Amino acid sequence: MNGIYLDHAATTPIHPEVVATMATFLATDFGNPSSIHSAGRQARHRLDDSRRQIAKTIGANEKELIFTSGGTEADNLAIIGTALQQQTFGKHIITTQIEHAAILDACKYLESIGFEVTYLPVNKDGIVSVDALVDALRPDTILVSVMMINNEVGSIQPIQAIGERLLSHPCCFHTDAVQAYGITDIDVNALQVDLLSITAHKINGPKGIGLLYKREQVKIKQRQFGGSQERLKRPGTENMPGIIGFEKAAVMVYGKENERSSYYHQLKALMISLLDEAAIDFTVNGAVTLTTPLILNISFKGTKVEQLLMNLDLAGVYVSSGSACTAGSIEASHVLTAMFGEKHERTTSAVRFSFGYDIDEAAIKETVRRVTEVVKRLRTLNE
Ligand SMILES: Cc1ncc(COP(=O)(O)O)c(C=O)c1O
Repeated sequence: MNGIYLDHAATTPIHPEVVATMATFLATDFGNPSSIHSAGRQARHRLDDSRRQIAKTIGANEKELIFTSGGTEADNLAIIGTALQQQTFGKHIITTQIEHAAILDACKYLESIGFEVTYLPVNKDGIVSVDALVDALRPDTILVSVMMINNEVGSIQPIQAIGERLLSHPCCFHTDAVQAYGITDIDVNALQVDLLSITAHKINGPKGIGLLYKREQVKIKQRQFGGSQERLKRPGTENMPGIIGFEKAAVMVYGKENERSSYYHQLKALMISLLDEAAIDFTVNGAVTLTTPLILNISFKGTKVEQLLMNLDLAGVYVSSGSACTAGSIEASHVLTAMFGEKHERTTSAVRFSFGYDIDEAAIKETVRRVTEVVKRLRTLNE
């Protein structure tokens, strides 16, 4: 067995059926959906169709989707677009300390232009308290943003409970569902969210395409200016091959969330029990029952994360630490720091394994064999 890719929370290999669908589209369709001639009308027809299919997967109306270049742009549009639109009602925003940089840095930007942001802490399982969130609400709170599933430790946030508690407050509610889509049933009405971000490359779709769900009556300010695409909220000629690939990937996972979830549960449980048998000193970060089965974040006592990543890479096990989008910089993870405190040993010896449909039990067994060898060697070296 050669390299084992266990970094599906960073990105996933594009599914062959998605490649085939996109290749056919690229070879045959090139029209601009804004053109009125028949090539344009054909593209418009495909665009409308994809929008309808994708909207269905989150229980939304097709008019409520804004296609973006991915999760980062969707998050930025949700946070900054809402803040700028709603600022006459107040300038207070609530989020959590464990959000993706696309949220945290958008909030930092808003602070620099006069908004006030409350960053809620999380408990040792990486979960925010609904009561603490409600306590933080103020009459001038215009937006609450809490991710559905954390991308580093996989902790599942109580989105539906938050949505229910926010019904009595006029603020907007956004959730970053990038790590949840395809593994958890998502219904925007059941969740009571106003805004929700998704990206295609985490579900074996193409990179550079995602969406922001925006409830029809919610008003946000556009961040880009130009044509009238995406109901003026995101001008620019649509990324048609990306949208077609997104639709294919979305349709392939839709309705299979439970099946996918239980498959990853098996892989995760197997990996933990084999590591137990290997008798190496490790701790799972986040409670197994309260995390997504897709992500397993582990601290290996007596090792350093940079050593681990390098040696696992040499051993052909591809994993990451911290947020993939900031990989390369090995600062302590802000998520683990929020869970365990500054400079805690767990924050400097943790790696994230994340599973995909192409991973089987044999790959997990081989991973554990290689991980055990690396960890034992590093611990002897560090003694
Ligand atoms: C939770 C979360 N939000 C947002 C993003 C950014 O998405 P994209 O890479 O499509 O910009 C990521 C990517 O890792 C993520 O995990």
